[in-house]
Amino acid sequence: MDRAGRGLRFAGFLLCTLLLVVLAGCGDNKQSALDPHSGPSKDIDKLWWGMLAAAGVVFAGVLALIALSVIRRNREGAPQLGSDDKKLGALVVAFGIVIPVISLVVLFFVADIGVVKATDAPTKAQTKMTIDVVAKQWFWEVRYPGSGAVTANEIHIPVRTRVNVVVTSTDVIHSFWVPELNKKVDAIPGHPNNLFLYADKPGLYRGQCAEFCGLQHAKMAIAVYADPPQRFKAWQANMAKPLRAAAANSPGFKAFQASQCAGCHTIRGTSAHGRIGPDLTHLMTRKTLAALTIPNTPNYLGAWVLDPQQFKPGNKMPGLNLTRPQFTKVMSFLRGLK
Ligand code: CUA
Repeated sequence: MDRAGRGLRFAGFLLCTLLLVVLAGCGDNKQSALDPHSGPSKDIDKLWWGMLAAAGVVFAGVLALIALSVIRRNREGAPQLGSDDKKLGALVVAFGIVIPVISLVVLFFVADIGVVKATDAPTKAQTKMTIDVVAKQWFWEVRYPGSGAVTANEIHIPVRTRVNVVVTSTDVIHSFWVPELNKKVDAIPGHPNNLFLYADKPGLYRGQCAEFCGLQHAKMAIAVYADPPQRFKAWQANMAKPLRAAAANSPGFKAFQASQCAGCHTIRGTSAHGRIGPDLTHLMTRKTLAALTIPNTPNYLGAWVLDPQQFKPGNKMPGLNLTRPQFTKVMSFLRGLK
């Protein structure tokens, strides 16, 4: 390679390194495995740093050997076949075999016996409550067994409480991952997996589907809100309620039903039982729409109802071609779902 080629390659390497450093510091997006907020995620964090340190030592060793070989080549010319150098041989054995074997064996035991156990699925006795999460293309259905509460994409848990999340899927394989709280676990059709969730302080913890699951895999995010116990109780009690009778008899609900919304969505307490889309009984308690893709404001909600494909092409909700009066009625009904 000539001098210009080498220079170009070096510039490319520098640029990539810089980009990596910038991207790694993307700031507080509430979704960093290096900002742990539970016992299991702290173990994962420690393991990550341990692995980075081990990889750093090995990498430094390799760089040192390369530097050594370049220096010697410049000083002594190309190596002659048969010229054995015991010191160099020992270095190769140390960095090529001994150190990698020792680090891999140590990391294996630390990771497998330590961290895998610590982050493992809980037993019934270890947890206070269970939440069922069903992954679908492309949102998360969230149910609270025993209480009747149902929601989508925005999970609420009581803070400092051990929660068992049972994760499954109804179509393809997804993966449930809230990095600040625990490892990821696959959502597999017909095979429920358990995940232990715990948050050490109140707040929002963002998560993401971590298994490619189709066109809108990137727009399949999840939010976990860790609430103080009293606020959680009030939230759950509200989410468990069916629709008020007055709203169920309103012109808004009739328009909702006539526009085929009921075929795909459930409004508890009414004849709308669809399970293709999210349960909408308490739609307005959620801060976002379409698995955290857009904020749940009146403008965005209206734009979504008129043309859902513009925000998330390929999702299962069709444009309904509502007339202006139908749209107004449906919107007033939706905005009353609190
Ligand atoms: Cu669901 Cu990726």
